[in-house]
Amino acid sequence: MNRVDLSRLDQQICTCRLCSLSEGRKCAVPGSGPAPADIMLVGEAPGREEDLTGRPFVGRAGRLLDEALEQAGLERSKVFITSVIKCRPPHNRKPKKAEIDQCRPYLQAQIDILHPKIICLMGNTAALAVLGRQGVTILRGQIMQDRFLVTYHPAAVLRNRNLMNDFVSDLKGLNTQEP
Ligand code: URA
Repeated sequence: MNRVDLSRLDQQICTCRLCSLSEGRKCAVPGSGPAPADIMLVGEAPGREEDLTGRPFVGRAGRLLDEALEQAGLERSKVFITSVIKCRPPHNRKPKKAEIDQCRPYLQAQIDILHPKIICLMGNTAALAVLGRQGVTILRGQIMQDRFLVTYHPAAVLRNRNLMNDFVSDLKGLNTQEP
């Protein structure tokens, strides 16, 4: 049932015309992963390679995310990965507030369908869109409201590799498996 709901939602996202980002996209990027999913990762918005393929986190930031997930002992195939904004902003600019507001119901619907036990908000855009708070360096690493964990966006870790250890240690905190 979850899969059916999710593919209906994917179709809605892929044909969405609610904001002007739809005019410039090749593909919308709804997200990918299991349904239901214990763990959800939320980024900011698709980049060039994601727009071309319709898949989340397949560019440079995605490769860094793969490396960090592996170091944290998490399998990418067991995690649902998406972003706040489902269409690429021109020149990878930051999403505007109006775009975030238009797109947020899709993320909420994904959360409702997938029932993740824990949702990792990667970067300030995700933290602001979902929790109404930003300041990753202060918020990171702690479980908030019983199910949210804020950490760096993988692109920030690409720019500053010194953040990798903290990023991996935050991702380890997502492991919902009993020891
Ligand atoms: N950055 C994001 O936030 N999401 C993607 O899918 C790719 C890069």
